[in-house]
Amino acid sequence: SRTTAKSDTPRSRTTLLDLPRRPRRNRKAEWSRRMVRENTVTVEDLIWPIFVMDGERDRQVVESMPGVFRMTVDEAVAEAERAASLGLPAIALFPYTNPALRDARGSEALNSDNLVCRALRAIKRAVPEVGLITDVALDPYTSHGHDGVLNGTDVANDATVELLVRQALVQAEAGADVIAPSDMMDGRIGAIRKALDAADRTDVQILAYAAKYASCFYGPFRDAVGTCATLIGDKRTYQMDPANGDEALVEAELDVAEGADMLMVKPGLPYLDVVYRLKERFKLPTFAYQVSGEYAMIEAAAANGWLDGEKAMMESLLAFKRAGADGILTYFAPRVAERLARG
Ligand code: PBG
Repeated sequence: SRTTAKSDTPRSRTTLLDLPRRPRRNRKAEWSRRMVRENTVTVEDLIWPIFVMDGERDRQVVESMPGVFRMTVDEAVAEAERAASLGLPAIALFPYTNPALRDARGSEALNSDNLVCRALRAIKRAVPEVGLITDVALDPYTSHGHDGVLNGTDVANDATVELLVRQALVQAEAGADVIAPSDMMDGRIGAIRKALDAADRTDVQILAYAAKYASCFYGPFRDAVGTCATLIGDKRTYQMDPANGDEALVEAELDVAEGADMLMVKPGLPYLDVVYRLKERFKLPTFAYQVSGEYAMIEAAAANGWLDGEKAMMESLLAFKRAGADGILTYFAPRVAERLARG
């Protein structure tokens, strides 16, 4: 009968089940797996966030992010040249501001000669073909570590937006190609778009951190930009509640209506449902930020020999693509680019 294997035949029948569909057929060989593969990670998908600091020819390890450094501008230029040669499309810049320059209003954010502006000019000059993305938010510049100015203990929305608009103009003037507001104030995308247009900078793109959650996964980043120790309280009155999914659609809808060219979801891997929903709904270029804590988790487990770090890195990036992300901001960017270049 069909269901009994005969032991006396040279090649015993192994068909026990009557299955018209066997999904494993397509997985039987590497060539077939390659042929049916739905998603791939390419160098074009990767945006590299880097940390800059004052000084010359120097770099410091970020304790909680092994393999990630704060770099002086000249070192950052060299890294941008490496990024360009690897084919990375863009770099996102984050400053470690000298604590002496931080104040309650984040004034240094408006200094056209601040660290980020100097880095923008130097990198633009050296590698004009690499896109430069800057974060709009006051946290690297405030003495209290919040993304805006305080009114009592709360971050004042409208007063903060006025400052963010000026910060965005300063960054655009210094050479930022893409303005990425990560502050989560209401109405800032529209205000920034209007101001850029009024300054005849309709060319500057806006990447809205449309859905940015109040997440513990930013811990190592705050270490990198030096806001860990200074942050008073938390950011839950402006960043989103991790419990909410529908609210991400509300946030994104406003940002789109106000003129966002691209959307971002942050953190990444724990919020893939949000990536998926935003991409489905708005069809705009949608990015995911694999944040510092996600990087740290993979690196820590790999350092302990608890998982294969290289594989975890690649699998996590592929997961973003599968969820619909058009690209990923990731600290792994140069490592992945080098790996892809090796083939
Ligand atoms: C600043 C900002 C943060 C991150 C990017 N921009 C930190 C925060 O909101 O506290 C986090 C990035 C990361 O963790 O890698 N507004």
